[in-house]
Amino acid sequence: MTSVEAGTMSNSCFSGLLRGVWLLWQAVLVVGRGSDLWEVPPHHFSTSSNLSESLQWEPHCQYRHLQDRVKVTADIPPKLEGTWVSTRCEVRPGPQFLTRSYSFQPNRHFHALQHYYSDSSCGDPAYSLLIRGKIRLQQASWITPGGTEADHHVTKVGIIVHSISARQTLAARLPQTCTDASLDRVEPGKLFELYNTRAGRGCLAALGFSMMELSLVRVQTQHHSHGGKVQELFLGDIHTDWIQRTLHRPTGYQQPLQNAMHHIHPCPVCALVYRSSEKRPPVLPQSPALPLSLDGRWVSQRCETRPSVLFLTRDFTFDSGQQAWEGIYRHYSDPACSQPTFTLRAFGHYAQGNPSAKILGASEFVFKVSEVRVTAMDKDIVKLLNKTRPGKCGPAGGWENGAEQDLTPTNGCTVLGIKLPHKEYELLKMELDHRKHLLLFTGERPTDGTSPDRPLRRPTSFQAPMVLCSGGDVQFGHSGKQLKLSSGAEKVTQVALLWFGSVLCSRLCVY
Ligand SMILES: *[C@@H]1O[C@H](CO)[C@@H](O)[C@H](O)[C@H]1NC(C)=O
Ligand SMILES: *[C@@H]1O[C@H](CO)[C@@H](O)[C@H](O)[C@H]1NC(C)=O
Repeated sequence: MTSVEAGTMSNSCFSGLLRGVWLLWQAVLVVGRGSDLWEVPPHHFSTSSNLSESLQWEPHCQYRHLQDRVKVTADIPPKLEGTWVSTRCEVRPGPQFLTRSYSFQPNRHFHALQHYYSDSSCGDPAYSLLIRGKIRLQQASWITPGGTEADHHVTKVGIIVHSISARQTLAARLPQTCTDASLDRVEPGKLFELYNTRAGRGCLAALGFSMMELSLVRVQTQHHSHGGKVQELFLGDIHTDWIQRTLHRPTGYQQPLQNAMHHIHPCPVCALVYRSSEKRPPVLPQSPALPLSLDGRWVSQRCETRPSVLFLTRDFTFDSGQQAWEGIYRHYSDPACSQPTFTLRAFGHYAQGNPSAKILGASEFVFKVSEVRVTAMDKDIVKLLNKTRPGKCGPAGGWENGAEQDLTPTNGCTVLGIKLPHKEYELLKMELDHRKHLLLFTGERPTDGTSPDRPLRRPTSFQAPMVLCSGGDVQFGHSGKQLKLSSGAEKVTQVALLWFGSVLCSRLCVY
């Protein structure tokens, strides 16, 4: 068996474990809560249901903690009415660069505008898609707690090409049958119908087009202490594999759109996208490229949802002097990140490679994981790990609830799909948020649960950004080593990629 196959096996093993544990939780919920419809989804929502959940999680980062106390609620079922817009130039796997403006009417009709660009800062519009259809909310998602499943029906897709060169690029990508009679003659700026109920979908599939993102929806409201609120619409994730994307049923989310009436302030991009039309695509201002300076501690801004039922927060510390990093992944069973299941601490080294040829301002990295420690915080996970054979997953028979165990002596943990040492090819970029705070974007994980363990698998899009929560002294807490970090004054130096040990590992080591 090749190591790749071995990796795949442990992946499915791990998903199986998670799914098993998850179903168990669900069973407990069914028994324990009985009437909470949204946790137990067999029924359709009645129109009068008005349940909301409150999210407690705040960054494990005292510095920010004090600054913004925000209460977050999620209405289930979600209220979609209104217009929802992108807050920045979005990057989809490929990469594709786009901005979106989606409007939902009370009568279930929607009207979605997607503007695609030829550059990674959304400054050069290539074409816009105008999509009309209907959406109907179904039941609470069984697979992704906190999400609501929906059915949609697309009735019309129009395309407007914004330049001759964009038309040439498109014509090269689309099959002859789509372009023959029509696209060649379409003037830039004129609407051309790509799909209607009579003509079929051939041309749309060639564009990688799908509205499957509407199959999983969630609306969250942030209530700020000064009385304002921000509403966010989470739609289903886009598969990282181009071939899978038109059929993919999402179980995770993309970065949220924000309500045009209730968005963060200031948000110049929101205003530009809101005022746009298919004929006047938003042209986003160029933002200066930020040099990557990783030093310090970075944390998730929210409880993150990952495809195949993982709720987690990430907490990374980088020391560019030592080229060392530590990542803490806290896993939970619920979308509010209030019920911990296990925590994984990974340590290793990293090296910065070349600037990305695909995404301006982003850089290629290689991360190496050499040490992993796991704390199980759920009795079923403790039981499972405790039963593993000696030498397969930390101390056989020595697992306890809440006690951290080192997986390094056993070179990882087969049942968790962790193999050490492990190497991953990454893509990182930095941006400023609306308050001019630094954001760190790390690469999107492959949707199929594999690991980007080869250069060809390097991500082309990003996960939710993390915020810098301290530039001051941070300490690594592992192996008795105490690495002091001083604030991000040092620039990350470019280092040749000299990595030893090219063991193909499964996944999970670096998220
Ligand atoms: C839902 O409940 C909230 C608070 O209990 C209330 O303010 C709101 O009006 C209710 N909405 C509906 C549609 O009943
Ligand atoms: C773990 O396994 C050992 C040996 O089989 C057993 O003595 C211990 O009680 C188990 N611990 C838990 C928490 O199940």
